[in-house]
Amino acid sequence: MGFKVAIVGATGAVGVEFMNVLERRNFPVSDLVLLASKRSAGTTLTFKGKPYVVQELTKDSFIGCQLALFSASGAISKEYREACVKAGCLMVDNSSAFRMEDGVPLVVPEINPQEAKKALQANGGKGVIANPNCTTIIALMALAPLHREAKIKRLVAATYQAASGAGHAAMEELKDSTRAWLDGKPYAPKVLPHPYAFNLFPHNSAMGPEGYCEEEVKLLKESRKILADNSLRITGTCVRVPVLRTHAEALNVEFHKPLSVERAYEILNKAPGVTVLEDRAKNRWAMPIDVAGKDNVYVGRIRKDQSQDNTLELWVVGDQLLKGAALNAVQCAEVALL
Ligand code: A2P
Repeated sequence: MGFKVAIVGATGAVGVEFMNVLERRNFPVSDLVLLASKRSAGTTLTFKGKPYVVQELTKDSFIGCQLALFSASGAISKEYREACVKAGCLMVDNSSAFRMEDGVPLVVPEINPQEAKKALQANGGKGVIANPNCTTIIALMALAPLHREAKIKRLVAATYQAASGAGHAAMEELKDSTRAWLDGKPYAPKVLPHPYAFNLFPHNSAMGPEGYCEEEVKLLKESRKILADNSLRITGTCVRVPVLRTHAEALNVEFHKPLSVERAYEILNKAPGVTVLEDRAKNRWAMPIDVAGKDNVYVGRIRKDQSQDNTLELWVVGDQLLKGAALNAVQCAEVALL
């Protein structure tokens, strides 16, 4: 058994990880179609030791494919959805284009795996699975098991988000601008709106009328959809920090019922895809450099909020390119197709 798999955005930061994750997890790939823009058509990439030439994405690219993993932008996902689905190919989309659409499951396999198969056209689905926002996936990996125990009433999040969330070019900008800063040379930002080296700034997504940026709104809306709970109250401040590929989040979580610190640790120690990492004596918690390249979401610093009842504080760290993007998408495909 094997699937002909298309990767849209194969040369991008997430695209490259799609290939790594498919290979590492031994996903049954019978053939691979690597797709990007005209600019990088002709580039050769390696999968399982074999070279594959990147092709320009066209509406015919999906013929004969059973699975397409998309990470090339919301606009590309919207433009090519129909061609993909018409070809009978399951689309797992990393963009935000369809996440809130009725009938499109928004899936984190450790949390709501039952939704994935509903996407299949054979099951009356729309042929599309949406991969949630990276910040949302990473937060919910830690929060969903606690929600099942004591039901979350309100979440206040502060995030420390890596360059990778803005794509390969933003990662390069972080390196180049840091090098320029150390060399005492000027550097004009090209990808992100502000100087990035030795700096941080509120998330660069579009600002809405209430003063929340899109990233903060995604955390609210997507969490409600994934946890199937519209009563959840969520607010947050998302910040871009000069880290290459791993997001960290400080979460303040109020529950409907009392939940002890000990019980929270017990639950998270058993939660799939979660690793508890901490050493209170050494003041040592998960950091982006520990978690970059790791599949699991790391959690620690669980403590009682002294200012309010039924409330815990948590520190959560996850690789944005893996569990926040490529790994979650491939897991969705596994649940739907295997
Ligand atoms: P390309 O390398 O040809 O620009 P990232 O998220 O790291 O910025 O990557 C974006 C991905 O989306 C890249 O693989 C990029 O390919 C691809 N992409 C961008 N624009 C298009 C397009 N018009 N058609 C197909 N792929 C595109």
